[in-house]
Amino acid sequence: MKNEYFCAMISENVDLKPFNTFGVAAKAAQFTRFGSVDELNEILAAAEGQALFILGGGSNILLTQDIDALVLKNEIKGMELVEKDDDSVLVRVGAGEVWHEFVLYCVEHGYAGVENLSLIPGNVGASPMQNIGAYGVEVKDVIFEVEAFNLENKAVQVFSNEECEFGYRESVFKRALKGKYVITHVTFKLSANPKINTSYGAIESELKTRGISEPTIKDVSDAVIAIRQSKLPDPKEIGNAGSFFKNPVVEQSVFERIRANHPDVPSYPAETGKVKIPAGWLIEQAGWKGKTFENYGVHKNQALVLVNYGGATGRQIWDLSSMILEDINTKFGVELEREVNVI
Ligand code: FAD
Ligand code: EPU
Repeated sequence: MKNEYFCAMISENVDLKPFNTFGVAAKAAQFTRFGSVDELNEILAAAEGQALFILGGGSNILLTQDIDALVLKNEIKGMELVEKDDDSVLVRVGAGEVWHEFVLYCVEHGYAGVENLSLIPGNVGASPMQNIGAYGVEVKDVIFEVEAFNLENKAVQVFSNEECEFGYRESVFKRALKGKYVITHVTFKLSANPKINTSYGAIESELKTRGISEPTIKDVSDAVIAIRQSKLPDPKEIGNAGSFFKNPVVEQSVFERIRANHPDVPSYPAETGKVKIPAGWLIEQAGWKGKTFENYGVHKNQALVLVNYGGATGRQIWDLSSMILEDINTKFGVELEREVNVI
């Protein structure tokens, strides 16, 4: 909706430490917020030709340097029930809504599909970027369409689920269209008849511990929250961006070679002829779990999570990630890929 009184407040030289969950210090040359497509248009008209960086909750970025651009914090709000029938509902959500708030809204209304994705930090707008996933579900399973503002022709374009080209922590927005669009709204298709997915072992055992045999979506959400809180560091206490690396998908022959020396190597099925190995397992086996260097290191409960205990620089965390990458390559012949967006 057009806000006639909107006048973009563009601040200079802004400290980004409060805006990234790694909690590293870096500056934005310029910084502003927008709460609607019209506001975004007005800002862009005044900032023609300037380099831009779109920021959500800052929970999947590592700042290794200052951002010499206009940082645009997406604060488009709103959750709107667009359609409802006996089987499903369509909910259109503003990109600036907090992801977990949206999950809680769905759980409260009995809309099933995102309960396994409870407590993932960040905003709704970033969820299609890297097809967030956890505990047997990926957001692609519930995305109906994505509205994105084309920075070149200044028009909003609608992408169907298929056009988003989702993959494991992948989408067209992270690859071919990187930096070209601002996601403004996401419409989710959720189930009005809960289909509970407890295939991920940890959920089943958590529910069993709680004595729940016929879980509701609220039970699944609560179980996921408890599992996550027991394993993953809370960014409010310890700076981090979740899994720093992706789980590598390797040829069956590579997996067999590793299994010959480590019969207990865990794995997940992947595309035909390939196997996904948990990077956390490889990093732990290589001896990195819990390693601390001054004020940063590898988390003690989850080797896939690099942490800033306070005051570390993005460059130090980057260098640590490079050492781990090299070591895993030497020890296992497996090339890890960073999941976090490095700036
Ligand atoms: P940001 O970090 O702000 O941005 C990420 C990237 O997307 C940047 O390149 C940014 O430019 C771009 N971007 C952001 N918003 C938009 C937009 N509206 N339009 C265009 N581009 C945009 N991820 C998982 O998949 N599963 C997990 O289980 C998980 N667990 C985590 C646990 C912890 C403790 C933490 C800290 C992170 C975890 N993550 C997980 C990673 C992170 O939560 C997700 O990647 C999340 O979607 C990032 O959202 P954000 O709003 O913070 O994005
Ligand atoms: N493991 C170890 N040591 C470790 C960590 C894990 O041996 O230090 C082993 C576990 O024992 C288990 C396997 O690795 O056998 C998998 O561990 P976990 O269930 O913790 O999941 P993950 O593969 O490490 C992935 C996602 C997470 C997501 C969880 C739950 C990636 C890169 N990460 O982690 O997503 O929350 O599964 O589904 O796919 C994120 O993307 O930021 C993220 C946190």
